[in-house]
Amino acid sequence: MLQSREKGIQGMGETEDRARRKHEHIAAVKSLPDVGGTGFADVRLLPRSAPEIDVDQVSLGTELLGRHLASPIIINAMTGGTEESGRINATLAAFAKRHGLAMAVGSETAALQSADASASYTVVREINPDGVVIANLGMGVDIERSLRAVELVGADFLQIHWNAAQEMFMAEGDRRFRGFLERLSGLQKATPVPIIAKEVGQGMTGPSARQFIDAGANAVDIGGLGGTNFIAVEAWRRHQPLEEEWLRWGVPTAASLGEVAAELQGKSPIVASGGIRTGHDVVKALVMGATAVGIAGPLLRLAAEPDGDQRLDQWLAEIHETMRMLHVLMGAATISEVGDQPAIVGGSTGDWLELRGYGEYRRKLARRGR
Ligand code: FNR
Repeated sequence: MLQSREKGIQGMGETEDRARRKHEHIAAVKSLPDVGGTGFADVRLLPRSAPEIDVDQVSLGTELLGRHLASPIIINAMTGGTEESGRINATLAAFAKRHGLAMAVGSETAALQSADASASYTVVREINPDGVVIANLGMGVDIERSLRAVELVGADFLQIHWNAAQEMFMAEGDRRFRGFLERLSGLQKATPVPIIAKEVGQGMTGPSARQFIDAGANAVDIGGLGGTNFIAVEAWRRHQPLEEEWLRWGVPTAASLGEVAAELQGKSPIVASGGIRTGHDVVKALVMGATAVGIAGPLLRLAAEPDGDQRLDQWLAEIHETMRMLHVLMGAATISEVGDQPAIVGGSTGDWLELRGYGEYRRKLARRGR
């Protein structure tokens, strides 16, 4: 099987090769489970016995990089470049529009190389002309291409993804990673929209986030370990057995968020992502210091169903209901009040933060409101 796939790769042009890769990413994410172990089970929120607010007082609206969002949930970067991904993007864009969600498109390299591929991205802006749309490109991109990627989808922000592990697990992936931070600095000066430096599921440490911000990123998306795992996805594509330890490579999402929140101290927005699946995960992330949360894999699976629209709506209604209940139970009417609530970070996530020198953040979080 592997042999026939490899032969296919050699016989194909770059565009077809990329199209097949996009298709295989979708197929892999549909069949692979989340890697698990985000660490959010180590995070406990604290109830307020007399909440003194009503459920219908709760507002889930928030701000990210100067734009208003009806919900802190962002449809994170996934796909584009093929007919199949165009259909998925159209479904997700309509979902984003119905609920005022921000949406990122998948890496736009395909659209920059072939005009045929661009419709599967531009559909997102066509369907949702007034929504918040986020462009996406890989690390090390040049200024000209980044400007085109922003323009193509009329983007409000630009995500630049850092995915070295994925690249090295791809037969056709990059092996050279020098000089990309410097390029980010140049990009920041030339690009008209805010830049979000993004991981894709291996997680960011505090110092990595600091490097991105110092190089000019306006925000970070921590892309933590625990949800979709691109090392597993690439091994699946190549039909290769994977050494178990690779599934633990990276920073679990809760530890990553703790590190990055402690490091950035509220000075730059943080998008928490990587295995965020429930209303509890979302609220825990907001309490720990996230401005918004990104979700990818589950939305792809729902959008690909024949009744995708209804399923997506139902999924969001359930998450929002849990979020509203937790707001009330903590006595917080708004997302910004949620960000002032206490949390106990215990277990291995607590140990992680202590050992990494982020104990003060953890103690402050526990003592809020006392
Ligand atoms: C992704 N992701 C991604 N990220 C990115 O920056 N550019 C991209 O092109 C893609 N492509 C992509 C395809 C598919 C099918 C999936 C599921 C995901 C990564 C994504 O944005 C996110 O960082 C991770 O998937 C982790 O979040 P979840 O899936 O655990 O919620």
